[in-house]
Parts: sequence; structure tokens; C-alpha cells
Amino acid sequence: MSSALRDRSRLALVSVMLTWLVLFIPFTAANAVMLNGEDVPLHRISADECRLCHMEIYEQWAGSMHAKSSAINDPIHRAFYKQVVGSPEAEDVRTKNGSYPVCLKCHAPNAAQEMKTKLDDVPAFSEGVNCVSCHRLKEFKGTRLPNGKLQLGIDAYVMAENCQGPSGFPASFEEHAAQATAGETENPHHQRPFVSIDEDVEMALPLEANPELLKTSAACLGCHDKRNNSHGVPLCSTGDEYVHGKTHVSCQSCHMPISGGFADHTMGGGHDEATLRRALIMKIETEKQNDTIQTRVKIKNQQPHKVPTGAPFRNMMLQVTAYNRDGAVVWRNYEKNPMMEDPNSYFHLVLLGDDGKPTSPPKAKSLGADNRLEPYETRTLTFDIPAKDVALVRAEMNYSLLWPGLKKALSFLPEHLLEAKKVAFAESRLH
Ligand code: HEC
Ligand code: HEC
Ligand code: HEC
Ligand code: HEC
Ligand code: HEC
Repeated sequence: MSSALRDRSRLALVSVMLTWLVLFIPFTAANAVMLNGEDVPLHRISADECRLCHMEIYEQWAGSMHAKSSAINDPIHRAFYKQVVGSPEAEDVRTKNGSYPVCLKCHAPNAAQEMKTKLDDVPAFSEGVNCVSCHRLKEFKGTRLPNGKLQLGIDAYVMAENCQGPSGFPASFEEHAAQATAGETENPHHQRPFVSIDEDVEMALPLEANPELLKTSAACLGCHDKRNNSHGVPLCSTGDEYVHGKTHVSCQSCHMPISGGFADHTMGGGHDEATLRRALIMKIETEKQNDTIQTRVKIKNQQPHKVPTGAPFRNMMLQVTAYNRDGAVVWRNYEKNPMMEDPNSYFHLVLLGDDGKPTSPPKAKSLGADNRLEPYETRTLTFDIPAKDVALVRAEMNYSLLWPGLKKALSFLPEHLLEAKKVAFAESRLH
């Protein structure tokens, strides 16, 4: 059954109960939603409550990094959070200078709403960026204050106490509403008390149309624009890259494509192989000249942001390999370490410490070299390969979430977070 149908049959059933329930359940206070007869602030509503009707969107979200963004659920974030801030299971945790941990304003926005730090307290905190984290965003104020200071995550937004939707009341909605309210159509559907059939839950959830926010990049930039470490060094700057990319294409058009009749909430990035495979176009050309094969590998970034974008330790390595007729390797651009053997084939950002040597994000004092692909850039790398015995040249681009040094330091992480993923591939046969 499609999700729309499932909603419909559910709602038909619900409507029978609603005709009498509506008479007894009072409408909610303006600053809360009604759950099981109690006023609950919207930021404490778990994704489980939305799952009752939005099953497919729930499943997509549950598999996304948004659902794993808190230090309870993301092992990489957890490792850094514990190092820089402290325990995600304790209350009143503060940073060394006594301030509330800024991380939570993006990674656990519902806890940040109450300045709480014990993330296992309620599901809506540990869930990280859950349904209401985004569907409460009312207005984007920007990430930079007039005095140059940053306001990040939920601080960059005016937050609503009712649910914000991209279109308000979709066409199919009228039909549901008419059924559910049995003739009382003047009240919109998300404003009626709901009863779930699976569990004994009643809910009233006012919904407001907000296309300016939800259909534009403003829905993302409060958290994805930029972030500095405590020394003011920019660690992530997807938003700045995007401005530099001079595009009118929204983040949603790639990261929330319409699929199965609604906006997909999978929101793949560096953790998702399928998203990574779309990022680049890679081509290889070979030309034999005397004793060498001149090889050109052309790489085009299709995005209005850098690749890799996001966290500073994301990186890519281009492995170029020449094989003989029997499939044995006769040449390689690097054996083990492209950083030393072929730096142009290692796409990464360097962060520098006090001593001018590469260091980790929390310790960085300045930015070093950055040879990640610029927005929409096409880059050509050339290789002179000794021609003897070569029958085939292959280029492979591999993406890693972490720098090689960090992989070693965090070797306790699950294997799938440490493995490199193949994102592009091209080969040329010699005659
Ligand atoms: C009892 C069923 C029910 C529950 C529970 C429910 N919704 Fe909905 N919701 C609907 C129906 C029905 C629609 C309209 C049809 C559609 O878009 O699928 C809708 C539409 C929406 C829309 C789209 C509105 C637009 O502008 O296009 C959003 C956003 C939304 N819901 C968010 C949520 C969130 C967040 C939760 C949990 C806090 C939630 N809903 C819980 C039934 C429900
Ligand atoms: C309230 C803050 C917030 C908002 C709003 C937000 N995100 Fe995120 N997003 C995060 C956080 C935090 C993570 C990282 C989770 C982690 O890796 O721990 C993330 C992860 C992602 C990832 C996956 C990155 C990876 O490592 O695989 C993508 C893609 C993404 N977001 C896209 C979007 C898009 C598109 C929007 C707007 C429609 C958006 N986000 C809105 C906070 C937010
Ligand atoms: C990272 C932010 C983010 C999170 C988390 C998120 N949404 Fe959304 N959602 C959006 C945006 C942005 C849109 C509008 C997409 C568009 O129309 O361009 C949207 C659209 C929707 C719609 C309308 C879909 C359609 O195309 O008709 C529904 C329903 C919805 N969300 C429900 C949910 C539910 C339920 C959850 C949690 C399981 C959830 N959302 C989590 C950002 C988010
Ligand atoms: C043309 C399609 C496209 C557009 C538009 C786009 N992205 Fe991406 N994005 C991708 C692809 C493909 C990847 C995977 C490659 C990578 O990680 O760099 C990606 C990766 C990401 C990641 C993953 C970073 C990580 O650490 O894993 C984030 C976050 C992200 N995009 C956010 C955004 C935001 C925010 C916007 C809007 C300002 C946006 N993207 C616009 C295609 C797009
Ligand atoms: C402005 C919002 C914001 C703030 C503040 C923020 N982050 Fe993030 N963080 C993100 C987003 C968005 C991503 C995922 C996409 C990307 O890579 O840009 C992310 C990704 C990460 C990752 C990589 C996670 C993974 O799964 O690979 C780590 C680690 C991390 N953040 C640690 C922290 C720590 C520690 C703090 C606080 C000191 C913090 N972040 C503050 C938005 C933020």
C-alpha cells in the first residue's frame, strides 16, 4: 500500500473516533501541542509520533545522518564531543569557558532549546535533528550577527511552536480533512486532535504554510552554512562554498528529490555511497608517445559546493593503476601514501596547529592548503606512465570520512565508517 493510501485508510478509521472525540478534547494552548490530553512543547515531540501517519518519510529519516546526529547515536561525533565537551549523558555540562556547548545547537537542537545536555533524557533529544527540529523552523535570520559573531543552528532561526510545512495544506489534504471532521471542514486537519490506531495516542498538531523557508536553502543553512572551532578557524563552510558557487539551485533539489510522490528525507552525504557516486564525472584519456603513455584524468565536480564538502576530515584519493595483458599491476601513482608520493591525487583540507604542522579540528589555529574540488570545477591531472607492457590504465576515486591519521586514532569505530568508498571509476585500454 502506498503511503498516501495508508494515510487515507488510517484517517477513515480515525474519523469514526474523531466525531465524538472532537467534542471533548479542548484545543491546544498556542505554545504547545496536545499529546494524550497534555500540553507538550513541540520540540519534545519524538519522531515516533509523526511515524504514525508519515511512515515512509519516517523510515527515510531514520536511516539518515540527521537521525544519528546526536552524540548518543553518531560514533564519530561522539568521539569528538567527549574530547571537546564531555559526556552526552550528563546534565549541566559546560565548555571550558563556561558556556553551553554550541555543538548541540545543530547536533541536538531540541535539547539546546532548553539548554539541556543530558541527551538520553527524552527521545526528542537523543534523536538529534528529528522531524520537529526542521518543521519548527519559521524564519532564517542568517548565521552572522552585525558584529561579526556567529549565531548557529537553532540560534540562526526564529522557531515556531506549530508545525511548518512547505505547502500548508496539500490537495489530498482537503479530502482527508473532510472525512476526518465529518462535515466540519473549516478547521484544518493538523489542528484537530488525532487518535492513532497502533498505539493509544491522541495528538493535535497545528500546521502552518511556510514555503519561503522549507522550499529554499534557508531550511538548511542555519546548520550547514559554516562553523568555527574555539580558535575561530572555519571547519565546515558548505554554505560559503555554495554562495561562491553562484547558483539558484536549492539544496533540496539534490538532497530531497521527489520520489514516490513526496520529498525524500534520506538526505545522503558522505555516509551514503549512492549520493557519492553522483558527485563526479570522471574520464580518462591515454596517448602513447614513444616510451610513455600520457594519461589525462578529467574530474568534474557537479555540485555548487566543494567535493568533498562538510567536515574538514572528509577526503578523496585518486588511484591510477596500469596493468599488463595478464592483469598484473605494472605501475601506480602511489603505493601507500598519496600525501608523500603524489600530493595532487589527495583531495583534502589541511588544518594547521601552532607549530605550523597539520593537526586535528579542535586544535587548529589556521587553515592550510585546500585542494578539494571547487564548486563546478573541472580539474585535469596528468600522468606519464612508462609504456612497457601496459595494456590497460584505470583511474579510481576513493572517498573516506576521515583522514588516514584519524582512522588510526579512532580505530575502535565500526568498519563501515573506516572503509574508503569508490565514488568514480574510468579506464582506457591500449591497443
Ligand atoms: C494522524 C496522522 C498524522 C500525524 C500523527 C502527523 N501527520 Fe503530518 N500530515 C498528515 C496528513 C494526512 C497530511 C497531509 C497529506 C500528506 O501530505 O501526506 C500531513 C501533512 C504534513 C506535512 C506537509 C504539509 C505541507 O505543507 O505540505 C508536514 C510537514 C507534516 N505533516 C509534518 C508532520 C510532523 C512533523 C508530524 C509529527 C510531529 C506529523 N506530521 C504527524 C497526517 C499526520
Ligand atoms: C538543525 C540543524 C540542521 C538542519 C536544519 C539541517 N541539517 Fe543536515 N545535518 C545536521 C547535522 C548535525 C548533521 C550531521 C550528523 C552527523 O554526522 O553527526 C547533518 C547531516 C546532513 C547530511 C549528511 C552528511 C553526512 O555526513 O553524510 C546531509 C546531506 C544534510 N545534513 C543535508 C541537509 C539539508 C539538505 C538540509 C535542509 C533541507 C539540512 N541538512 C538541514 C544538521 C542540520
Ligand atoms: C533536515 C530537515 C528535515 C527533517 C529532519 C525532516 N524534514 Fe520533513 N521536510 C523538510 C523540508 C525542507 C521539506 C520540504 C521539501 C520541499 O518541498 O522542498 C519537508 C517536507 C516534508 C513533508 C511534505 C512532503 C511532500 O513532498 O509532500 C512531510 C510530510 C514531512 N516533511 C514530514 C517529516 C517527518 C514526519 C519527519 C521526521 C520523520 C521529517 N519531515 C523530518 C525538512 C525536514
Ligand atoms: C547538484 C546537487 C547538489 C546540490 C544543489 C547540493 N548538494 Fe550537497 N551534495 C551533493 C553530492 C552529490 C554530495 C556528495 C559528495 C560530497 O560529499 O561532497 C553532497 C554532499 C553534501 C554533504 C555531505 C558532507 C559530509 O560531510 O558528508 C552535505 C552536508 C551537503 N551536501 C549539504 C548541502 C547543502 C547545505 C546544500 C545547499 C546549500 C547542498 N548540499 C547542495 C549534491 C548536491
Ligand atoms: C553550525 C552547526 C554545527 C555546530 C555548531 C557543530 N556542528 Fe558538527 N556537524 C554539523 C554538520 C551539518 C555536520 C555534517 C555535515 C558536514 O560534514 O558538514 C557535522 C559533522 C560533524 C562531525 C562528523 C560526524 C561524522 O559522522 O562523520 C563531527 C565529529 C562533528 N560535527 C563534531 C562537532 C562538535 C564536537 C561540535 C561542537 C564543538 C560541533 N560538531 C558543532 C554541524 C555543526
